[in-house]
Amino acid sequence: MLDKRVAKLLNEQITKELYSAYLYLGFSVFYEAEGLDGYANWYMIQAQEERDHAMLFLKYLQMCGEKVELGAIDKPDKKLSGLMDPLNAGYEHEQYVTSLINDIYSAAYDVKDFRTMQFLDWFVKEQLEEEKNAEDMIKKMELFGNDSKGLYSLDAEYAQRVYSAPSLVL
Ligand code: FEO
Repeated sequence: MLDKRVAKLLNEQITKELYSAYLYLGFSVFYEAEGLDGYANWYMIQAQEERDHAMLFLKYLQMCGEKVELGAIDKPDKKLSGLMDPLNAGYEHEQYVTSLINDIYSAAYDVKDFRTMQFLDWFVKEQLEEEKNAEDMIKKMELFGNDSKGLYSLDAEYAQRVYSAPSLVL
């Protein structure tokens, strides 16, 4: 049995990760409509990764014998008009997700739930990568995105991204 607060936060994280998937799906749709198929590809794969994250939280709760409760997924509310908008919103969102992971970690720490802390270690590391990727995308767009050849090259780079399943297996 998990501590009630820890179980509640883990359950809520399923919905938060699915919201992330939905948010990035919206970014993918935005870039596809702008003719930037590479960026659209990058965010489509990002959406898949977020779904994977949600499934990991779900599976962990099931393995712990906890009840899984699925919450409502909000409509993404970010206003997207310029090419920088999804990138800035994505970085801000990943910083928020890091704070959520830290909150669950902190709750697990308070009750000496070492098992949950060990489960969350993967996400702590993953968030470092998520924030770094999001920040790099902003930097590159700022450096090269104002020039059409530069933007074309960036889009070609993001078109190369392929999906790979998460390294954490439960
Ligand atoms: Fe599930 Fe982008 O963190």
